[in-house]
Amino acid sequence: MAESISTLDKISSLCKRRGFVIQSSDIYGGFANVYDFGPLGVALKNNIKRLWIKSVIEQRKDMYQIDGAIFMHPRAWEASGHTKVFTDPLIDCEKCKRRFRADQLEGWRLKKDNKTGKWTVLKQGSLTCPVCGGSLIPKVREFNLMMESYVGAVKDESTKAYLKPESCQNIYLNFMWVKDSMRAKIPFGIAQIGKAFRNELTSGQFIFRLREFEQMDIEYFVHPKEAERIYEEWKKERFYWYEKKLGIKKEHLRFRQHEKEELIFYAKDAWDIEYNFPFGWKELEGVHNRGDYDLKQHSKFSGKKLTYFDSERNEEYTPYIIECSGGVERTFLVLMFEFYSEEEVEDVNGKKYIRVVLRFPKEIAPVKYAVFPLLRSERLVEEAKKIYEEIRKIEPACVYDEVGSIGRRYRRQDEIGTPVCLTIDHQTLEDGTFTIRDRDTMKQERISLDSLLSRL
Ligand code: GAP
Repeated sequence: MAESISTLDKISSLCKRRGFVIQSSDIYGGFANVYDFGPLGVALKNNIKRLWIKSVIEQRKDMYQIDGAIFMHPRAWEASGHTKVFTDPLIDCEKCKRRFRADQLEGWRLKKDNKTGKWTVLKQGSLTCPVCGGSLIPKVREFNLMMESYVGAVKDESTKAYLKPESCQNIYLNFMWVKDSMRAKIPFGIAQIGKAFRNELTSGQFIFRLREFEQMDIEYFVHPKEAERIYEEWKKERFYWYEKKLGIKKEHLRFRQHEKEELIFYAKDAWDIEYNFPFGWKELEGVHNRGDYDLKQHSKFSGKKLTYFDSERNEEYTPYIIECSGGVERTFLVLMFEFYSEEEVEDVNGKKYIRVVLRFPKEIAPVKYAVFPLLRSERLVEEAKKIYEEIRKIEPACVYDEVGSIGRRYRRQDEIGTPVCLTIDHQTLEDGTFTIRDRDTMKQERISLDSLLSRL
């Protein structure tokens, strides 16, 4: 456990130092469970999203992407059940007044009624406050995780609105609109990358559990009789994406089926793709067969028809939904854990040091190439900048760096996961070749600009 905590600490400190992630409002002392993404963090997030869009939308012919608003009609959250059941069990400390999730305290076992949102204590655990050592009041209260706001000129119940607690809901509401406007035929899916907000109470796991985060959602509409088969296909496809497209080791991933009491009452089946974090196996993406619950609920509450007419079968029905819902930031954190490595190596003088490397696959790396002049001499700098500009025309994720020793510059790039560094030296001025250094093997070879550009 001590080792795992230190890996998380090392990663969060690297993320801050190198412009990936910083706590929101850091100069004011930070804002709990909310984070800002810096230049390298945005580049990494964009690469994750781009790979997702490519694989689940662009490479298929049956997917449509939307970008729904954060605010939705409050009735939508009554229909979805969130106003009632989106709760965590809370317990207070008598002394320090801190609040904790009872289900995460030592020795406690609780069960949630997924129809009412009420929590029942199956086994009462420790009543000692984990922070101040005071006494916990043994009374569990339901706490709704939805973030409230007011939209309009007055602030009362009539203008109360919620920030989306899950991004997917506007997909259900727009099912008919997308189907009709795109003349989509079942089976088809609607995908969305969108923000979600939850008043999460657990903190201290960096970007694992956030109050504001992004979800990558697929809602795939199918005939009820085909749901089981298509569900299995999506399970395979989503696991494949993490393993083959993001390069996460198979043994670090697993599927876990929801247990009976965990399974929401309307779901037909639910499996989570989990990652073996240093703090245990945790959810990375949920792949669920939601049945026809969502469309039927929104149809009931809105009074609008949300069905599909199949002309070949001459049958009208409410489609089942297969949902694949993953988190952008959680995938980001997984990639950090998966590709972070430390190794003892020797510098040119034979001195040992610890090399920190993010061994990102090239498609994920926020910077793909770094160009250095060996020395800061006028001719080498000029030549290096020329080569840098040529590469940038084809690969914009490229940086130029002339500051510090060459060894330090390599280390800076290793730490952010840049796969290839180019060094322009005196030989470049004579024959146009320069060295390229591979991040993982640290091997160098000489090559010309033309052969590098043709590789690009
Ligand atoms: N629409 C289904 C849904 O929202 P979920 O299991 O609550 O299901 C889906 O969330 C994914 O969103 C999770 O697998 C996780 O990757 C991400 N996620 C959920 N809550 C999160 C949080 N508080 N912070 C960061 N990511 C979160």
